[in-house]
Amino acid sequence: MQNIEWSKLPFDYFKTDYNVRCHYRNDQWGEIEISSSETVNLHMSATCLHYGQEAFEGMKAYHGKDGTIRLFRWEENAKRMQDSAEGIMMAKPPIDLFYEMVTKVVKLNKKYLPPYGHGASLYIRPLLIGTGAQVGVNPADEYMLIIFVCPVGPYFKEGFNPVTIQIANDYDRAAPQGTGSIKVGGNYAASLQPAVRAKKEGFASVLFLDAKENKYLDEAGPANFFGIKNNTYITPESTSILPSITNKSIMQLAKDEGLKVEQRKVPVEELEEFDEVGACGTAAIITPIKKIVHRKTGKTYEFCKDGKAGPISTKLYKKLQGIQFGEVEDPHGWVTVVE
Ligand code: PLP
Ligand code: COI
Repeated sequence: MQNIEWSKLPFDYFKTDYNVRCHYRNDQWGEIEISSSETVNLHMSATCLHYGQEAFEGMKAYHGKDGTIRLFRWEENAKRMQDSAEGIMMAKPPIDLFYEMVTKVVKLNKKYLPPYGHGASLYIRPLLIGTGAQVGVNPADEYMLIIFVCPVGPYFKEGFNPVTIQIANDYDRAAPQGTGSIKVGGNYAASLQPAVRAKKEGFASVLFLDAKENKYLDEAGPANFFGIKNNTYITPESTSILPSITNKSIMQLAKDEGLKVEQRKVPVEELEEFDEVGACGTAAIITPIKKIVHRKTGKTYEFCKDGKAGPISTKLYKKLQGIQFGEVEDPHGWVTVVE
């Protein structure tokens, strides 16, 4: 096996040995197949290609100091994949099937699991697609669930170092009554124009505003947004935001630390009042934000004046990663050991 520079891994595709697949045909899920192919043979009229019947998940396996492999709240990912499937009328993968596939693919690719201490983990990507052929706009009658893995570093190359973000008010990621709250490909396609532009203009990511009024904070690129002030952890509430498992966990950890937690509409101007702000998600973990620039008005909000993440974000980050890597107690039973 090639020498992998574990601490330099980007968040990117990385070929591993195996993926697992399962087909839904004739109203039922079949046997789990193990594949070493990186490609998928599809009918040219498959609904995933034409009508966006596609949903995915993102989760990680963490290698502890003790050599133990841990999954974090996998059941939440399984349930969210079912919600996504329901949202765009796809067959729902059973929770047990999801778990069996996840553990199988992790074990099959054990040698790609980054060793402890490199800030890296094994990203797990479950993908559900409509494979049945349709030309009319209808749901397919056949589906495929594929799960592959890639060793990855943090999503933002800065890691836990603060990033700059651009508010894009001229693009909407998802509509209030649309698909923003489920994890379907179309949301990400809609985010590409402003995300690529933001990168060209020197920012790590985009902060979207609500699509209806353009007044409230929505998603932070491929992550949820949070702000901290007056011993309170505040995160936007919106029907177009993906319910992040990381954010849900951080809200609990913040409460455990004695912080108040508010999930509510956050007007853009409130950015002025936060002591710390950040983005959170499986890929992003907790990414502190040092500067937010409103692209249209040029208005700039600055944080982390000393160049470092704030104390509360740091504490929450350490607690979260501590649980994920099995270094601190897991009081909420979030971790599952892969035997
Ligand atoms: N928001 C979006 C748009 C995402 O793609 C993700 C990543 O999954 C998140 C938020 C964070 O969700 P989670 O913490 O469950 O990974
Ligand atoms: C994740 O955090 O797991 C995600 O799915 C984000 C992703 C779109 C890269």
